[in-house]
Amino acid sequence: MQKESIVEEIMKLKEERNAIILSHNYQREEIQDIADFIGDSLELSREAAGVECDVIVFCGVNFMAESASILSPDKTVLLPELGANCPMADMIRVSGEREVWKSFPGYREQPHFVFPHDFTLLDIKRQYPDLPVVAYVNTTADVKAESYICCTSANVVKVIEALPQQEVICIPDRNLSAWAQSRTKKRVISWDGFCHVHDRVTAEDVEMARREHPDALFVAHPECRMEVLERADHVTSTSGMLRFARESDAREFIIGTEVGLLYRLRKENPDKVFYPLRKDMICPNMKKTRLQSVLTALRQMRHVIKVPEDIRVRAKEALDRMLAIK
Ligand code: 13P
Ligand code: SF4
Repeated sequence: MQKESIVEEIMKLKEERNAIILSHNYQREEIQDIADFIGDSLELSREAAGVECDVIVFCGVNFMAESASILSPDKTVLLPELGANCPMADMIRVSGEREVWKSFPGYREQPHFVFPHDFTLLDIKRQYPDLPVVAYVNTTADVKAESYICCTSANVVKVIEALPQQEVICIPDRNLSAWAQSRTKKRVISWDGFCHVHDRVTAEDVEMARREHPDALFVAHPECRMEVLERADHVTSTSGMLRFARESDAREFIIGTEVGLLYRLRKENPDKVFYPLRKDMICPNMKKTRLQSVLTALRQMRHVIKVPEDIRVRAKEALDRMLAIK
């Protein structure tokens, strides 16, 4: 089928099903082009909580669709590609084994992590019974359900500051936690998870990019290592980067996040120039969704994302606490 015919069919079905298409900023260009709303994790959660429709087609990864379903249980939430997961979200389990470690040989040698890998969220909670757990939205619904509050890369510091305790547990991303620690006087106890797309870039990559583009500002996502964040002109979420580029007087920018964001940056700022920090900052899971997947999802009403009600209710409390922070 030709691209135009697929898009036409998607639009027709969208109308018939009273559906809307949400897309994360890392999605393929053709997905961003058909989306009703494109955003970062925080914006997508807000949109999913408030949007009026019967069906949400979520073009992103599974934890994002899960959050949409938790927040809007009366709507049918579809994830076009079931295999679109986030390896970082799978790095922490409420209890039991975390199979995902097997995909990251060598992680034990990495210097940053705080907890031994065989601990679980329940182990941490037993060790620190009085401390609130702040769960990055990049977690599964059952982890959210065991947490006090959620956060995203856009609001992690605000969320930590809003809590009455002076010590908090922040899971699962060690880099996001380290960055939050550098912005608050509170003690942030971290987990040893990481995003394989952001964690792979180093200070050397930043220095090389700065040598190549001496006039560019460098913006980084807080999932990058501290050695990268310390060298950034600005650290923020994906939509924070869009805002920063729009409002800045600078003309050139080095972008320290997944390359999918460059499409929107270039489209919205045609007079500015954007360079990826590294061309291989590609999230394979974010790229799984294609036009054909969206069409099949709408045709067959698949794959419906639904969270068991007892977990959903508790996970929603953690998400609602986050969304209540302005
Ligand atoms: P944002 O919330 O900044 O869009 O990030 C989500 C994510 O998965 C980053 O890797
Ligand atoms: Fe997960 Fe990293 Fe992909 Fe974001 S970029 S969805 S954190 S693997």
